[in-house]
Formats: sequence, C-alpha cells, structure tokens
Amino acid sequence: MKTKLFSISPYERPFLEQGNQEGLQLIYEEERLNENTTDLAEGCEAVSIFASDKAPADVLEKLSELGVKYIATRTMGIDHIDTEKARELGIKVAHVPHYSPHSVAEHSVALMMALNRNLIPAHYKAMDYNFLLDGLVGFDMNNKTVGMIGGGEIGSVSARILHGFGCKLLIYDIEKNKELIEKYDAKYVDIDELCSNSDIITIHAPLTEDTEHLINKEKIELMKDGVMIINTARGAICKTEDLIEGLKNEKIGSLGMDVYENEKGLFFEDHSCEIMKDDLFVRLLGFKNVLITAHQAFLTREALKENMDTTLANLRNWAKGNTAEHQVD
Ligand code: NAI
Repeated sequence: MKTKLFSISPYERPFLEQGNQEGLQLIYEEERLNENTTDLAEGCEAVSIFASDKAPADVLEKLSELGVKYIATRTMGIDHIDTEKARELGIKVAHVPHYSPHSVAEHSVALMMALNRNLIPAHYKAMDYNFLLDGLVGFDMNNKTVGMIGGGEIGSVSARILHGFGCKLLIYDIEKNKELIEKYDAKYVDIDELCSNSDIITIHAPLTEDTEHLINKEKIELMKDGVMIINTARGAICKTEDLIEGLKNEKIGSLGMDVYENEKGLFFEDHSCEIMKDDLFVRLLGFKNVLITAHQAFLTREALKENMDTTLANLRNWAKGNTAEHQVD
C-alpha cells in the first residue's frame, strides 16, 4: 500500500525503515499536511500525519477525492483530525494509543530538576568562567509536596520517580488509582487543596472541556508563594496570561513547560530567521525562571520505536484488508 508520510523528521526515519519488514511503500514528505499540500498525497491510498498536520473537513474532502482511504496518525491525540467528517467520507483513521510513559514522566522530572538546581544559569556561568555560586541555591526534593494533576499512565510513572526522591504526593484526578495510594502513599484531593498545599505542581491530564484553563488566576492565587509549575501535558490546561501574571508578581517561583497554549504553527518548525510575533511566548522567554522545551517530552528512542511500530502495524492491517487494531471508530 502506497503511503505518504507527512511532516516526517529525520529522527523518525530509521525506526520506520527498521520496522518496515513487510515492505509497505512509504513515501517520506517533510511538508505539513494542510489545505495547500493535499495534492502531495496524489496516488496514495494512505497518509500518515503528525500533531503539526491539520486534517479538517476541507482537507479530508480533497484527500478523499484523491483516493486516500486511510489516515494513520503518529500521535496519541486525534484532535487535529475531523474524525466525524472522515467517517462520513469513509476514510479510516488509526492512532497510537500508547507509547513509553517513561519518556514524558522523565522529561517532566528533568524540567523540575533543571529549574530547582538552576542548571541552565549554572551552565551559562561556567561558560563565562564565572564560578561564583550566587543565585544557584536549590532545594531538597526530599519531603517536598508534589501535586499531580492526572494520575494515569504518565502520572503513575512520575509518582514512582517522585516517591523515590522522598516527595509527598497529592493527586487530583476524576478516577482514583488504588495502586498509587498503596505503593506511594499518594493522597487524592480536590484541585483547590492540591493548589494550596503543593510545592511543585506537575500536569499529566488530557486537555478536555473540564481541564482547559484549569490553572488560571484563581487557582494560582491559592498556590504557595514560589510554587513550581511543570506542564508536559497540553498548553491550554494553563491560561498563559495568568501564568505570566503569576510570574511577574513572583507567586510562581519557576515554570517548566514542554507544551504551550499557542504552539500550533510555532513548535516543530524553525522560526529562527523570523521576527517572533507571538508576544505571550516572547514574554515567557523573558523570565529567567521559565524553562521551555518545544514538545519533546515524547522524544526518546524507546517511545519513537513504539510509535513507529504501531503506525506501521496500523498500515499493515489495512494493506491486508483488515481493520487496524488501533482504528478510531
Ligand atoms: P492517561 O489517560 O493514562 O491519564 C490521564 C489521567 O488524567 C487519567 O487518570 C484521567 O482519569 C485523568 N483525567 C482525565 N480528565 C481529568 C480531569 N478533568 N481532571 C483531572 N484528571 C483527569 O494519559 P497519559 O498517557 O498519562 O497522558 C497524559 C497526557 O500527557 C496526555 O493527555 C497528553 O496530553 C500528554 N502527553 C504529552 C506528551 C508530550 O510529548 N509532551 C506526549 C504524550 C502525552
């Protein structure tokens, strides 16, 4: 089956080549899928896309006219695809429901530790042969209270790591996971209690109507002075303007983010030769206590292998005339 893979990055190709034992015809394309690039799928029965691609109704209609019958997204989320329209057009969609939760949990802790121990400023100082320790004081993780929003797969791995540090764990989730209570002495609390009592807040919940802007001015006001916030889940769970206000009035002591509310059209692209027009993003970069990575928490060899293997399995199933195991109905 001829498949055009949009938004392909050099780091994905080796995993696809290793995993493609049954000889699917894969055509790599660096362009993003959008209303102007659909013609690139001409002659292909399937396309594979990433979070930076867009498949709204008009794009799906054009793909359908070109004969595309399958979309395998190399993401967990499917919010970049109009799945209802796909169903109407008879286009099958499959995703990657699971890949290493360790990748994201470990990245969250990496952000936490880099902020806590001032690793980025320390490195810049060392580069300047300035070995004074002023401004580099951190804190012991041991005995600190970490509030986790979301105790699912990624949250559970984070809980294990943080328990290892000697942290006390508070969790806000719509479902309780008994294992986290039994193994790590975690306490389930409501969101206000979590905000009021945590030294560090780390977000591992999906973006839904209920979690959109869950972290806002009102919740930030409840937090401890100097709280650290880590978000590797989805940008819009935090209201960016309110984070900036919290940083300006020093309520928020540090912020680590791998996701940003307005990251579409920004992350996964090189904008280094342009004038940055996103004022909120520029303001965030202006804080010395903000550490930003551009949606790379998933980027480990193990997670990439799982992601590419599942994508290939979805395509292989369709090529054999079967239903893909991870087809979205
Ligand atoms: P999961 O589905 O295993 O866990 C999510 C948890 O959030 C569940 O326990 C669920 O009950 C809870 N939850 C759902 N709605 C909630 C609400 N309204 N309030 C509080 N808790 C709620 O998902 P997993 O694998 O742990 O992933 C978590 C999130 O991490 C994903 O939704 C995704 O947004 C993000 N993610 C980020 C990546 C990155 O590279 N930065 C990569 C992969 C996932």
